[in-house]
Amino acid sequence: MNTDKKRKHLMSTESILLRIENLHKQYNQPGLESSGPNILNGSNLILNASESVSIIGPSGSGKSTLLNIIAGLDSPTSGCVMFDNQDLFTFNEEELANYRNQEIGLIFQDHHLLPQCNVLENVLMPTLVPGNTNSKHNAKDYAVDLLDKVGLSKRLAYYPSYLSGGERQRVAVVRSLINKPKLILADEPTGALDQNSANELIDLLLDLNQTERISFIMVTHSVDLAKKMKRVEELRYGVLRAI
Ligand SMILES: Nc1ncnc2c1ncn2[C@@H]1O[C@H](COP(=O)(O)OP(=O)(O)OP(=O)(O)O)[C@@H](O)[C@H]1O
Ligand SMILES: [Mg+2]
Repeated sequence: MNTDKKRKHLMSTESILLRIENLHKQYNQPGLESSGPNILNGSNLILNASESVSIIGPSGSGKSTLLNIIAGLDSPTSGCVMFDNQDLFTFNEEELANYRNQEIGLIFQDHHLLPQCNVLENVLMPTLVPGNTNSKHNAKDYAVDLLDKVGLSKRLAYYPSYLSGGERQRVAVVRSLINKPKLILADEPTGALDQNSANELIDLLLDLNQTERISFIMVTHSVDLAKKMKRVEELRYGVLRAI
């Protein structure tokens, strides 16, 4: 390989954040000896650093299963998930916990905010996890900055029950960012929002993708919202296909 080509090759592998290879997933069927069908049946995906992609697909096609595997919350039957050139499923429990707390952020359809904690306390919760080694920044200042950025600077002391659905989801977004993860996994983050709030939330994610250079994988049922991301993949019959 000549020097230019070598440099290009190095650059292209260096910028890959996530590489999913030939992922298969079968669940055991409750009460039955045999395994169920392949929910994932050879899924592949490459995500570069700072890239965003949305995943659509019919209900039951395995989108949440795929995100749970990428989040290290579930394991595949076979195949591999490489994050920053490391195989996720060679991690021990401590490394996996560290990965979940530091490297990725999770957003779900339901905000999962703690009702007894106010907005600021909810956002700071992931920094209080034992073993959090994140001394890169002053978390409280960062939380206040981000809450300001998402239009919630006057809501720091509010409890979740006093917020609108869209506001709660924005708090959940900020909480997912607090440890400065490289990748956000969002499973139908707009599922419980009206169209306006859903659009605002996606615009916020895209803005954060640009300004904070964070990669996103977003599962959604809305083709219109999916198209706002640069890349759209469809999960069908257990495989991902760019559309
Ligand atoms: N823990 C489990 N045990 C057995 N089967 C499961 C389990 N979790 C999911 N499944 C099955 O795997 C399939 C895919 O489920 P998954 O939740 O990943 O779909 P989805 O694409 O996220 O659907 P939706 O759009 O409705 O959220 C479904 O048929 C589901 O019943
Ligand atoms: Mg799902």
